[in-house]
Amino acid sequence: MPDSKCSFPSIRTEIAGLPISQLVACYETPVYVYDAAAIEQRIEDLQAFDVIRYAQKANSNLAILDLIRRRGCVVDAVSAGEIERALAVGFSPHGDPPPIVYTADIFDQESFELVLKHDLHVNCGSPDMIDQLGQVAPGRNITLRINPGFGHGHSQKTNTGGQQSKHGIWHEQLPDCLLRADRHGLGVTGIHMHIGSGTDLEHLAQVCGALQQAAGTVGRTITSISAGGGLPVPYRSGEEYVPVDAYFNFWDQTRKLLEQQFGHAVSLEIEPGRYLVAECGYLIAEIRAVKRMGDNMFYLVDAGFNNLARPILYGAYHPMSIAPADGNTKREEIEVVVGGPLCESGDIFTQEEGGFVCRRRLPIAGVGDYLVLEVAGAYGFVMGSNYNSKPLAAEVLVRDGQAHLVRSRQTFEDLIRGERIPSSRPAP
Ligand code: LLP
Repeated sequence: MPDSKCSFPSIRTEIAGLPISQLVACYETPVYVYDAAAIEQRIEDLQAFDVIRYAQKANSNLAILDLIRRRGCVVDAVSAGEIERALAVGFSPHGDPPPIVYTADIFDQESFELVLKHDLHVNCGSPDMIDQLGQVAPGRNITLRINPGFGHGHSQKTNTGGQQSKHGIWHEQLPDCLLRADRHGLGVTGIHMHIGSGTDLEHLAQVCGALQQAAGTVGRTITSISAGGGLPVPYRSGEEYVPVDAYFNFWDQTRKLLEQQFGHAVSLEIEPGRYLVAECGYLIAEIRAVKRMGDNMFYLVDAGFNNLARPILYGAYHPMSIAPADGNTKREEIEVVVGGPLCESGDIFTQEEGGFVCRRRLPIAGVGDYLVLEVAGAYGFVMGSNYNSKPLAAEVLVRDGQAHLVRSRQTFEDLIRGERIPSSRPAP
């Protein structure tokens, strides 16, 4: 973990050692580029935890999952599709710790079938899940995701604790859930808490006490605890990294207290998504129009909220830089609004929560220059859509100075796959 304050450049000519001009010449725009070394570094930061369980919802490209598996992490899955992805890259269904854990608040038909077929470990987020699993697969071990009654996230939409949240088993219902598990002969071997995404150390630290209490209620069957995800990363120059060592120490103390109480070892898991992959990712777009609307100067680029939805959804801030097409890096800066190509006013990358458009200081740029949206590796591509019949972008992984296309840009055929025009009825 770097201890200095974060600083983002306003001009960028390369990503992971490769010239942006070369990347766009090969892969066109918009394109997501991921730097493998950045992910490896973040995995390194968390080595003190016994288990790093990657929350693949942040970025589930197979190449990223493969990298993470090779670096010794295990994985979380929230859907049948995420289970299939984990299996496809070679995570085995069984092991200690379980290589794949299904963590959700419901089983849908597909996920339930896969969980049963592969006998996957389930982290139950509702009392109904305990009953549904217990009825058809008694005798298994499960873990419970507990909502401790409080939460915190970078946005209200990413706060997963408290009574406004649909996530987890309400803490006061834990004794009832233990009875349910008992009735079905399910062993409760772990407690998990995830209070929100993009939270801060203060809130994260509060979880330790709540988890200790819940684990104490369950008792000696507990062999693992999970701190969930939520670790923030800096998105603005001047922001600092969370002190991961201090965070680990809170949890290590909690784990040790439980070990004393139970008289056996308790494994400590962390479940990061954003922390592992946010900083590795860059979304490169081309500036296609520069226009003035009254007092505002707009850069319109060929990526929109179909590619990166975080600004329109949460008013999320992403650092931006200009990659000059002519290589001239000496440019004055002006205040601009940055928007995309979609036919919707909200398709603006410079906006605050509530949809308020704001300006950003960026180098003077023109049509043909590139705009790079940075810290875009987490919840970027995966939240993309085909709105306005835009194809999903290509994804490229740079490893050891080599660029690899890890997902092709969608084609028109991909866009209409599965659609049908009913055969015309005979005229009446
Ligand atoms: N574990 C569970 C059970 C989760 O629901 C999540 C995130 C994580 C771990 C990973 O959280 P992280 O370490 O990435 O904060 N789309 C939003 C974030 C939604 C997070 C959903 N759950 C965004 O773009 O900020």
